[in-house]
Amino acid sequence: MLETIRQTAGFIRQEVGGDMPETAVILGTGLGDLVNKIDIKKELAYKDIPNFPVSTVEGHSGKLIFGTLGGKYIMAMQGRFHYYEGYDMKQVTFPVRVMKELGVKTLFVSNAAGGMNKEFQVGDVMIITDHINLFPENPLRGRNDDKLGPRFPSMTEAYSRSLIALAESIGKEEKIRLMRGVYVGTPGPTFETPAEYEYFRIIGGDAVGMSTVPEVIVANHAGMKVFGVSVITDLGGKDITDVPSHEEVQKAAVKAQPVMTKLITEMLGCI
Ligand code: HPA
Repeated sequence: MLETIRQTAGFIRQEVGGDMPETAVILGTGLGDLVNKIDIKKELAYKDIPNFPVSTVEGHSGKLIFGTLGGKYIMAMQGRFHYYEGYDMKQVTFPVRVMKELGVKTLFVSNAAGGMNKEFQVGDVMIITDHINLFPENPLRGRNDDKLGPRFPSMTEAYSRSLIALAESIGKEEKIRLMRGVYVGTPGPTFETPAEYEYFRIIGGDAVGMSTVPEVIVANHAGMKVFGVSVITDLGGKDITDVPSHEEVQKAAVKAQPVMTKLITEMLGCI
């Protein structure tokens, strides 16, 4: 795998030129607006990057962007690879391996998620404090390459406490309503039954989605610092009869984007 990672990283280095960013951002469903704030130096379509899977889902345009945001040089993934699309866990997390090889030390991840926490409202932004992996697999299953990370990585601080503290201080200063909670990662593509939302709440989840957990596991394996945010696009539970749809999720995500963009931009200025 290391050879493939190096080949892809080499291609990107050659195409983009210059120093590589130490910070990367993965943008989730309906959250691509942040890209409009980036002073773009170079864009690479996933389909043109060797060994990169190609994103298929509606609402994901699929490119890797290099540029400046909040005064910091970053790389941003507009669109990610989801397990439900049929990619395996190694493909889903391949871009994170490439980021590490390029020198990325801090990873920001965003996603759209359904809220189970009864305090949450549609449009809320939740800082991810921890996660529960309910994917049927772990991306680290299989022979471990010690050059990529340890066999049994710790996940006690999967989401950096210092970055969470920074987000909360920015939220306070900017008077942004910021929730915090545990993200439950599921394979999808079905949204949850009312009983499943209830179950995820009972086991300690605040929000549920179909992404993020694989990338965060690999980022931790690779020794990166991670910050995650969920935009709450719908609410689920045993008394909630709303039917979430992809369109509704996208619409709610688009509406909440400015808050998320502001938070991430300000954080980039501080790290
Ligand atoms: N469940 C799972 N994934 C989601 C949801 C949800 O309710 N909303 C957005 N992504």
